[in-house]
Amino acid sequence: EQSLRTLAARHNLAIGTAIDMDALRDAASPQYRALAASQFSSVTAENVMKWEALEPTRGVYNWGPADELIDFARKNKQKVRGHVLVWQNQLPTWLTQGVNDGTISNTELRDILRKHITTVVKRFKGKIWQWDVVNEAVSDPWDSPSSIHLKGFWAQHLGPGYIADAFRWARAADPEALLFYNDYNIEAFSDRGPSDKTWYTYNMAKQLRASGVPIDGVGSQGHLATQYGNYDAFQALEVLDAFSDLGLATAFTEVDVRSLMTDGVRAGDANEINPRLQASAANYSVLLQACLANRRCLSYTVWGLTDKHSWVPSWFSNPPEGLATLYDESYLPKRAYNVVKADLAFA
Ligand code: G3I
Repeated sequence: EQSLRTLAARHNLAIGTAIDMDALRDAASPQYRALAASQFSSVTAENVMKWEALEPTRGVYNWGPADELIDFARKNKQKVRGHVLVWQNQLPTWLTQGVNDGTISNTELRDILRKHITTVVKRFKGKIWQWDVVNEAVSDPWDSPSSIHLKGFWAQHLGPGYIADAFRWARAADPEALLFYNDYNIEAFSDRGPSDKTWYTYNMAKQLRASGVPIDGVGSQGHLATQYGNYDAFQALEVLDAFSDLGLATAFTEVDVRSLMTDGVRAGDANEINPRLQASAANYSVLLQACLANRRCLSYTVWGLTDKHSWVPSWFSNPPEGLATLYDESYLPKRAYNVVKADLAFA
């Protein structure tokens, strides 16, 4: 039986998974560790490299869990995607509170961001393959249907220039790491107009490149849901090709395909869930085929190794959603796993 990582290597593609450090450490379920090591050639920290995890108290860094993941990757000859340097979520309370109560000015905030990026990227210098430098900076069409814009904490306090700054600071701290912009809902162009997030992101990347900002790639997260229908591989490829035509690398960085768990469906109820498992597998395949067809797609990372440890059920609980990963709650491979494997084995 060939593993996903062996098959992916033939395409010069890294196949990755997000790692939940609590699950990786859990002695009671060694399957997690075993599958993470044997099936994947790249890992991403699901949470432990985020700012709130690295610097819970101002000036006091907690490197332990991130170091542990990097050590796991080294032992298993895996590459590491660094996630994430600049994002509006999972920021430490000292930072958001300080800004809200006015004890941290915007000038100081910019210094704090520079120091954060510099400190973290230097700390892991030489050990990170790709960094998600800026994550989820672009608004969604449902927020402002007529005009996509830069959203969130950083744009609000520092203005749009923080994006270029972040890439420059990251490059200075580790010239070897590949620097990515990362976002969700950019898997296809919809209308290429003012309400199209993918189009906005494409133009932003183009401008960054044109002004010499050191951005190396764009990561498309790939959080899909079967209730929204099937994606089309050619549409997904068109987006990747647009980015690579700008001279950028591409990657799918957080692929998972969830389903509604309403009408009493339970995870063990094979007959009921089969259509959802099929639809999930089909969408995993669409993104993978686009990645395989794009000349600069470096990696395909799934967000969660198993339905037992997936962000989906706790995030989408009303109505409940689940079944998003490649392995079920008992670590058995699902149809999506078989389809991903077949795609990698083909050609
Ligand atoms: O750290 C606390 C822990 O101390 C406590 O015991 C536990 C109890 O609930 O909560 C822990 O925090 C949780 C954290 O994950 C670590 O497990 C948060 O409540 C929970 O909200 C957080 O969710 C993460 C989410 O990002 C939050 O932003 C998910 O695990 C993670 O999968 C998800 O990942 C994001 C990517 O970073 C960016 N793209 C979207 C993706 C999905 O939302």
